[in-house]
Amino acid sequence: MTTELDTSQKQSKAMALPEYILEIRDFLLDQGFPEKLDATVILGSGLGDFGSQIEDAITIPYGHIPNFPQSTVQGHSGALICGHVDGKKTLAFSGRFHFYEGYDFSTTVIPVHLAKAFDSEKLIVSNAAGGINLDFRVGDLMVIEDIIRQNFDLKAAPSKGLWSLDLNPIADQVQNIATSVGVNTKRGTYLYVKGPNYETKAEIKAFRIMGGDAVGMSTVPELMEAARLGVKSAAISLITNAAAGVTDQKLDHAEVKEAAEMKKNEFAQLVKGLIQAF
Ligand code: HPA
Repeated sequence: MTTELDTSQKQSKAMALPEYILEIRDFLLDQGFPEKLDATVILGSGLGDFGSQIEDAITIPYGHIPNFPQSTVQGHSGALICGHVDGKKTLAFSGRFHFYEGYDFSTTVIPVHLAKAFDSEKLIVSNAAGGINLDFRVGDLMVIEDIIRQNFDLKAAPSKGLWSLDLNPIADQVQNIATSVGVNTKRGTYLYVKGPNYETKAEIKAFRIMGGDAVGMSTVPELMEAARLGVKSAAISLITNAAAGVTDQKLDHAEVKEAAEMKKNEFAQLVKGLIQAF
């Protein structure tokens, strides 16, 4: 017999999350993951080192997880790391699924769906980004206070809806926490491009006029889906290079790794601060 409660519970789960996400959750519970998480962290390109801050870690390569795609970008180890950060139950995604790698929207947002499936109190999204703002330097950490979507493929989004995304209040909190843990931050608007190619100089000029401070190829699908599902989120960019035309340096992926290496301790301090509070 189906009770009313059973039906409504099933409906709300089915409405919120795809079946394959619930299967992944069951697999991870079998591997020793907790029922409920305090924080979920998505580690951007080159920022996977944060995984070493997680104590009592259970590390599972993406390749061992049913229904999980493989991340192909250099600088991503492609593993889930679950354990404790200063006593908080934390799940980190080392390696993400970019739209530009050919993944569809629902694959790109698997980390958000898993955060929801484990009832995570919060989501912290990080990325490597190119600096558009002329006051930014390589190695700056930018708290994302707003986003601009350029060429966002709306057809690829899983569900239509009129939910809104306002990152400003969270950005205030993130900056306060950064100050309290002694980490300097910039603040700005993240301009999302689909990629996979870097921008032209003229595009970056146009993006600056539009109000973009940093440009990148991730994070926005995740933030949009988190807003739809009501998962509280904060987002940080590490400026790994000057965007096209800002300097005469050629863009390549090696500088992403260099900047991340240079800033890994401050990034870890900030993420730890965010896991504790916001
Ligand atoms: N453009 C787009 N994405 C990026 C960049 C950039 O300059 N740097 C890191 N990710």
